Parts: sequence; structure tokens; C-alpha cells
Amino acid sequence: MNENKTWIDEIWEKIDKKLKPVSQSSFDKLPYTTENGKYVEKKSGDGVCWWTNGFWPGLMWLMYVGTKDEQYRKTAEHAEELLDEAFEDYDHLNHDVGFMWHISAGVNYRLFGGHKSKVRAMHAADILAARFNSSGKFIRAWNGDLFGRVIIDCMMNIPLLYWASHETGDPRYKYVAMSHADTTLKTHLRADGSVHHIVDLDIVTGEPVEAFGGQGYELGSAWSRGQSWALYGYILSYIHTQKQVYLDAAKRVAHYFIANTAEYGVPLCDFRAPQEPVIYDTTAGACAACGLIEIAKNVPEHEQHLYMKAALRILKALEKDFCDWSDKEDSILQKGTEAYHSPDSSKHIPIIYGDYFFTEAIYKLKGFDMLFW
Ligand code: GLY
Repeated sequence: MNENKTWIDEIWEKIDKKLKPVSQSSFDKLPYTTENGKYVEKKSGDGVCWWTNGFWPGLMWLMYVGTKDEQYRKTAEHAEELLDEAFEDYDHLNHDVGFMWHISAGVNYRLFGGHKSKVRAMHAADILAARFNSSGKFIRAWNGDLFGRVIIDCMMNIPLLYWASHETGDPRYKYVAMSHADTTLKTHLRADGSVHHIVDLDIVTGEPVEAFGGQGYELGSAWSRGQSWALYGYILSYIHTQKQVYLDAAKRVAHYFIANTAEYGVPLCDFRAPQEPVIYDTTAGACAACGLIEIAKNVPEHEQHLYMKAALRILKALEKDFCDWSDKEDSILQKGTEAYHSPDSSKHIPIIYGDYFFTEAIYKLKGFDMLFW
């Protein structure tokens, strides 16, 4: 364990050294990827409503909690203000309000209790809860006429609702979150521990109508970031509710993820795709590592090593081959992939949530115990 501690301390210091200047040079941005080594915002998509826009303030808060450096706090708070414009939009906000505000305004409020931050996080929670279909018992993902569309990613949005119930004492948010999680156990989690990315559900009964391959290789394949959303999402639902089936589900997905990363540690973009071309998605590995560490904290001592060893194997492989520690490049984690069938320009690129989850995993290993989700 000493060898691991030395490694963890070294990596944490490298992250801090790298991000200190970047927290200033990217003060006025909500970064998505990098161009010519500099963080840039998402060029297309939903503008300020783009689903990843909470990760930059979230990353800054991780660094603030871990270092108490005021620059990180200033940058996080400024990014939270930049996000306000998204509340003026209606058409482009969807279930990803959880990703956007739980680790930005939500963390700010949990740290400092500011009224404005609370209002932002509660407003986001209300938007998310309003997407609940009370007949089918699920949260709809996207807009337009996709009324029954449910994607596994939402397991990472619902922790905002657990917090909202905790904060207000109103059980409805938690009820919505648990109803949604219970539905996905039936509709998205497969017998072998893998998950579907997208399933359309009947809007009255909640029964599955049609599944889709989504961002993975094909229908029935196993998009690795989707697996990591499920892995981390189910253990978070367990932490917030203590409902055993969520822990069991998280372990099942974890076992599938561990089996598929046993050889090298770095996940392919899809675990059930042809061997060529080799397409990695490092972001899936970083997110899964966070979930594995949380599973390790929630199982009996004699079970912990399986999950902790797997998390370390993944993180060390990511660090060895895919982290850029130079001052020529703003991002840390390279070779994230948006989707298996994305254009080449969206494959093997740095993506902000890769840096976020890699840092969150090291933050957890350092022993900082404030849970961001
Ligand atoms: N939530 C969308 C993605 O993981 O790309």
C-alpha cells in the first residue's frame, strides 16, 4: 500500500501543478476539449446548455477541496455564473441538468451554504423531477417527441434528486430517483452485468419497447462509458438509499467492467465490438475507477481488494500511457472518445469529463471524503 500511496501523492501533485495555471488561463471558459493544447468550449451542440458544462467547475471544486487554493474557488464560482445563461433556455435543457449543476452549484452550496447556489441546484432538481413519467416510472432523457426514451447515463443525474430530498425534507425527489433506478434495473441491466445504452419504454406501462446501441458499436454491444455510468450510478444510488439491490447491480456491472479491462486496464470504447479498429475511451476508465473505489468502501473488508485493485490497475494504466503532464497541453487525460461511430475528430481526444473523473478518482484515493455526487 505504501507504494500506492507514493504514486497517489505524486499524481495529485502533478494534477495540482498542471491545473493551477490552467485554472487562470481558462477562467472565462466552460472547457470541453483542447485545440492546439488549449482548452476550448464545445463548438456545436446545445451552446451553454451542453451537458458537460458542469465538469469544469466540478474539477475546480475538487482541486479547491483538496488544496484550499482560492484561485480554484474563484474559477469554480465564475463558471457557475457562466452557466446561469442556460436557465434562460428551455428547449436545450434535458435530464443532464444533474451533470451540469450537482457538481457545480451543488458542491458550492454544500461547501459554503450560499443562497444563490442553493437556488440553482434546486432549480435544476425541479427541472429533472419534472421529466418523470409517473405512469411508466422513468425519467425521460431528451426532448422533442422521444417521450419514452431512457438512457443509462441518467443514473449519474439522479444523485441531484437524492440531495434535493435531503436538503428540503420533501421525499418526492428521492421517490422519483428510486423509481427511475428501479426501472432501469429491469430495462437496461442485462443478465451478464452489461447494460444497454438506450431503451425506449412504453409511456404508460414502462415496459421496454425497443433497445438501441446508442454510442456503442451496435444493438446489444457494450459501450464502455455507458457501463461506467451504470457502475458509478448504481453505487451512488446505494450510498444515498442503502437499498441492497443497487449495490448488487453496481457489483454486477463492476465485474463485467473488471473482466473487460483485466488485460490492459484501459477500456475500449465498446467491450463487444470487433478487435479492429482499436478505439479507446479513457473517460470510461476514469469514471469506472471512481465507482469501483466507492464499491470498495461499501463492501466488507475481505471483498474490498477486488474493487480497489481494479481501480488502481485502471488508473495506473491511464496514467502510464494516456496522461499528458506537460505545460504545452491544458488537458490531462488523452484519448477519450465521444462515440464508437463518431467522426475521427471526436475519437481519441481529451474531453473535460475525462480530466474530471481522473482527478476525482485520485482525490478519493488521497482520502478526501466529500462525495461530490
Ligand atoms: N452522456 C453522454 C455521453 O456520455 O457521451
